[in-house]
Amino acid sequence: MNETILITGANTGLGKETARQLALKKETKKIILFCRNQSKAEAAKKGLEEQTGKKIFEIVIGDVSDANSVRKAVENIKQPIDAIILNAGGMVGKTAGKMTPSGMNELAATNILGHVILVEELIKHDKLKKAVLSVSAEAVPGVKMLGMKPVAMKTSSVDEFAAVLDGSYFGNKFDPMQAYGYVKYAVTMWALSMARKYPHIKFVVMSPGNTGGTNAPDNLPPAMKFMLKYLMMPIVMPLMGMVHKLEVGAKRFVDGISDEQYKSGVFYASKEGKLSGDVVDQSTFYTDLKNISFQDNADKAIHRFI
Ligand SMILES: NC(=O)c1ccc[n+]([C@@H]2O[C@H](COP(=O)([O-])OP(=O)(O)OC[C@H]3O[C@@H](n4cnc5c(N)ncnc54)[C@H](OP(=O)(O)O)[C@@H]3O)[C@@H](O)[C@H]2O)c1
Repeated sequence: MNETILITGANTGLGKETARQLALKKETKKIILFCRNQSKAEAAKKGLEEQTGKKIFEIVIGDVSDANSVRKAVENIKQPIDAIILNAGGMVGKTAGKMTPSGMNELAATNILGHVILVEELIKHDKLKKAVLSVSAEAVPGVKMLGMKPVAMKTSSVDEFAAVLDGSYFGNKFDPMQAYGYVKYAVTMWALSMARKYPHIKFVVMSPGNTGGTNAPDNLPPAMKFMLKYLMMPIVMPLMGMVHKLEVGAKRFVDGISDEQYKSGVFYASKEGKLSGDVVDQSTFYTDLKNISFQDNADKAIHRFI
């Protein structure tokens, strides 16, 4: 039973819809909306209160790509949290390849840095009680039908992960669409290593699947954004059963923290080659996920930047 839940990137898209669904569960007493922008957070809080009729939302301001901002935010979290959903992220847009003070580029910092600090600081201060859900993507195992190749690191060594995080792995031509899967692979492996390190906390990794109704396409190059937002997502993909509604993607997160069938140390996403439908343990066909040395290498590489 999760009474207090924190969701990062909760002002829009999957994060906000997850907050709405969780608020409607009778056991939920408090939802912390962890957002980087005060006015967007307040607008989301107001909207959620109207939609749910519940006054259980609190705002904590923090930027997950900025280590100091997250450490400061943790100081503002006074009460223990039962479950945390590490949702903020995506492809970031034009500045994805730009270096942050941590030494990670913005893509990696946004999807990884702040989330790792947030979880580790909360654990250190005994403020995280039951569950962590790390958000990943089908971009990790790849989707053949769309020509999306699986993430294929040569050795998954600490150095190789570190190169993914600072962007040097990709040479001079940094393509966030390619790098995204590698960054999600790194955060997935970190979460799987944490599941072994902290067996009293459930660490589930979940992809929402290909989900419409979010701002994710807005971060793509203009031609790609147009094609995805106005053609593929609303018209072509639904015909192929390759996209689902916001409610469906967010329900995966709600179930991931609430339903006991989802086990710690497992990455759940759509069936092999799919982007929607039932979720399955990805390690049954993407076997690198089972390699504990690879998992620990991701953890060590991330800590080179913290
Ligand atoms: N939609 C999909 O099909 C899909 C598929 C697989 C995985 N995912 C993953 O699902 C998660 C949510 O994506 P979405 O589709 O809901 O995207 P979205 O609508 O763009 O929402 C992203 C959220 O993250 C927040 N955010 C971004 N950078 C941040 C930062 N540095 N600090 C704090 N908050 C930050 C955004 O805040 P602002 O409003 O301030 O920008 C927003 O609230 C992401 O991790 C994404 O990679 C999505």
